[in-house]
Amino acid sequence: MNIAVIGTGYVGLPTGVGFAELGNNVICIDKLSAKIDMLNSGKITIFEEGLEDLYHKNRSEGVLKFSSDIGDIEWADVVIIAVGTPTHPVTKEADLKYLYQAAEDIAPHLKKYTVVAIKSTVPVSTGESVEKLIAKMNPSADFDLVSLPEFLREGFAVYDFFNPDRIVIGTDSERAVLILKRLYEPFEGKTKILVTARNSAEVIKYASNAFLAMKVLYINEISNFCEKCGARIEEVALGIGLDSRIGPKFLKPGPGYGGSCFPKDTLALANMAKRCNVNLHLTDTAIEKNEQRKIDMAHRIAELVPDGATVAVLGLTYKSGTDDVRESPAVDICRELLRLGVALRAYDPKGMNNAREQLKDAVYYAKNPYDAAGGADILAILTEWSEFAKLNFRRVKAAMRQAKIIDLRNLLARDQVEGFEYHRLGEGCLESEKMREQIAPIN
Ligand code: UDX
Repeated sequence: MNIAVIGTGYVGLPTGVGFAELGNNVICIDKLSAKIDMLNSGKITIFEEGLEDLYHKNRSEGVLKFSSDIGDIEWADVVIIAVGTPTHPVTKEADLKYLYQAAEDIAPHLKKYTVVAIKSTVPVSTGESVEKLIAKMNPSADFDLVSLPEFLREGFAVYDFFNPDRIVIGTDSERAVLILKRLYEPFEGKTKILVTARNSAEVIKYASNAFLAMKVLYINEISNFCEKCGARIEEVALGIGLDSRIGPKFLKPGPGYGGSCFPKDTLALANMAKRCNVNLHLTDTAIEKNEQRKIDMAHRIAELVPDGATVAVLGLTYKSGTDDVRESPAVDICRELLRLGVALRAYDPKGMNNAREQLKDAVYYAKNPYDAAGGADILAILTEWSEFAKLNFRRVKAAMRQAKIIDLRNLLARDQVEGFEYHRLGEGCLESEKMREQIAPIN
């Protein structure tokens, strides 16, 4: 099948490469000609595990092409729109300017029946307005406008593309369903392919992300409780997760959720619902409490060191496996620590350049974790990069002013950090009589 993907970001590029690998002819289109030039010269524009090899392979086989000419969609059977929908500065909903621009750009080039699928996360009923816009701009266009939400995690986009939990196709058009089922034929029998109304597909995306965000917030709150009541969060999470109605995933405590999706999508969902006179209290609470958690984590770190101390920060991206620092709890924690007058020495294996754009010169950007630890009063692990668990902690200790670690991802095992004062999330020891009294049942 001939596929055009518009937008070569974290969704568009893995999607384009994935469909090429499945045996389709793919052209990825982006307005930013600098990006296209790079992709055409054999240089990949984003870091995503496993993507680069597949990009080179399919490019050399001639089934994956790149262009900044929107006219190239004419040849496609399916046009997938995967442009960004960032938070609108005023409405706090998704800003659809790139999406509408893409729709306007493709409209005159729809010369044969085409499935136009929106992969970008968009407010409910956006499909309908994009359909109207295209029809108005090109009344003779023969097309169906489908919602095809993506569920790719950053860092696992390639894995998730080939191993999706489900594929959601939002349309009432049988013709479009037939074509998209052919496109997704390799997944038949392995993955549930769910055909829904277009508006349902749009809601599924937001409702999934909001639910997962709440799950993270929930385990963070239970983690706080464990610290006060002598329980261990890992054991509690395991015990909860073994209930098949709850499931074991998304039960890791951390410094709060971040990234380009959860913060944006929860905000957009809450605001969309308000416009429909519906209050999504749980979502509203998740948004507020997640912001608070990042501040609380910064204060937790600062309270462990004297005024004017130096903190070594390990991890700046919002999670491991990506170079993305958008809405990264680590970056927000750094900002709050700086506000509290702490000096920062930071290191991240992939996110240094992106973090530098956000934190500018306020931070010392270390060459490696040992350099970050140099003269520090505490080492704060903010992102769960596995290489941080493999450090030589004797060397780390020798570099530091004080042997103290706070591990906000519960990445390390206690026996690795013997000789350090080690703090992690969700473990209480009821050391004081006062705590025992507080938790004792009331008869
Ligand atoms: C998310 C969705 O999972 C994906 O389906 C969607 O399409 C895009 O948004 P992503 O942003 O890549 O993916 O990150 P994800 O792995 O879901 O993690 C989101 C945030 O939650 C991260 O900040 C992560 O650190 C945090 N998290 C996740 C936890 O703190 N604990 C967990 O147990 C899981």
